[in-house]
Amino acid sequence: MEEKGKSTVFDCHIIQLSRIENATGNVTSVSSYQDIPFDIKRVYYLYDIPGGESRGGHAHKRLEQLITAASGSFNVVLDDGKNKKNINLNLPNYGLFIRPGIWRELVNFSSGAAVIAIASTIYDEDDYIRDYQEFIRYKI
Ligand code: TYD
Repeated sequence: MEEKGKSTVFDCHIIQLSRIENATGNVTSVSSYQDIPFDIKRVYYLYDIPGGESRGGHAHKRLEQLITAASGSFNVVLDDGKNKKNINLNLPNYGLFIRPGIWRELVNFSSGAAVIAIASTIYDEDDYIRDYQEFIRYKI
């Protein structure tokens, strides 16, 4: 088991997913252990995001996640307390794998952007760190 506070932004990476091309529209699928290194327990979407808004602004203690741009584009700013990484997501067949213990903010949403988030746990508010100073203490 990974030590909870030790993950860095360099442990988070882009995963290329399948893209099955079809004249009537393309298909991308995500399967546990084939495409992502965890069991899928929950999928949620972010949509109807007003211009100028940001989402996220928290870290998770246990949850692992893949974030994709189902449509449109946005940026994910990852922060491990020491290093930051800014990643643009704009293709539905590429996802960003985020380890536990990483502060993330989703910013710069294009109009009509939709986010699919695939998570390793069901929703659990106790898994969230929503205060940045608490996050920094957690990482020490
Ligand atoms: P939050 O995780 O803060 O959103 P984001 O990280 O995208 O900015 O969730 C926003 C609200 O939705 C918050 O009240 C918790 C609730 N929520 C659920 O009830 N279930 C879920 O699976 C998620 C992701 C959020």
